[in-house]
Amino acid sequence: MFWSSVLKSLLAACVVTEFAVSFVESFTCANSVSINGVYTPYDACETFQACFNQTQELKMPELARSQKFQQKGCATDECTDLAFSATLGGQRTFRYDQQCCTTDKCNQGDTQPSQGPATANGIQCLACYTEPGTLCIPTLLKCTGKETKCASVIGTVAGSSSPASVVMVGTGCATENACNLNMTILGSINIRTFCMSGFPVLPSAPASTGLRPTSISAVPVLIILPLLKVLL
Ligand SMILES: *[C@@H]1O[C@H](CO)[C@@H](O)[C@H](O)[C@H]1NC(C)=O
Ligand SMILES: *[C@@H]1O[C@H](CO)[C@@H](O)[C@H](O)[C@H]1NC(C)=O
Repeated sequence: MFWSSVLKSLLAACVVTEFAVSFVESFTCANSVSINGVYTPYDACETFQACFNQTQELKMPELARSQKFQQKGCATDECTDLAFSATLGGQRTFRYDQQCCTTDKCNQGDTQPSQGPATANGIQCLACYTEPGTLCIPTLLKCTGKETKCASVIGTVAGSSSPASVVMVGTGCATENACNLNMTILGSINIRTFCMSGFPVLPSAPASTGLRPTSISAVPVLIILPLLKVLL
């Protein structure tokens, strides 16, 4: 009786091990970093989990500044596909695209940025962008393409929880999956986002309706208060 149960569990262990060996096979991933066009290749890495390739791009047209981060490698924890974009005040745009895959060198390619202007989608959001020491007067922004949500984003120094570490606050149009994020972007900024419903475009109303000078000063307060609530 005793020995037969020992044999049974031994047999079970062998079967399980056999399964594990035949299912868990490692593979290699392309491994590189490219920051603003400066490309640094590394030796391919080996993983049992997933390869990832990621592109992050921040464009600030009025400062003629843009930052582009591209990274490929082996996922250290669970890898999830995530693609989103946002257009904030001052036409600052941010695009994030991460893809995960599980075959040898499957992360070698790069996404081609979609060409051609995106068309207005009928949603308008208050757009704003401010860094510490600057004031923002929100303007109405007509959203385009898949950016159908009005989002607020607050950026803090990654790794710091102090409210004094705020580096930017912005509002504008965003894709739906840009809502409710809590993640690090561009390697150094932690962003928290949330969305609210937009204003539908009224064809007969001029875009500035409702933004008479008297109401302008109240708007940044309205935008920033809920953001601070999130921080505290
Ligand atoms: C990742 O690589 C795949 C396959 O090579 C490619 O199709 C995809 O566009 C890449 N994605 C990103 C975000 O670079
Ligand atoms: C946001 O993410 C950070 C780091 O992963 C975590 O410490 C923090 O608790 C998260 N905050 C919320 C509200 O989920």
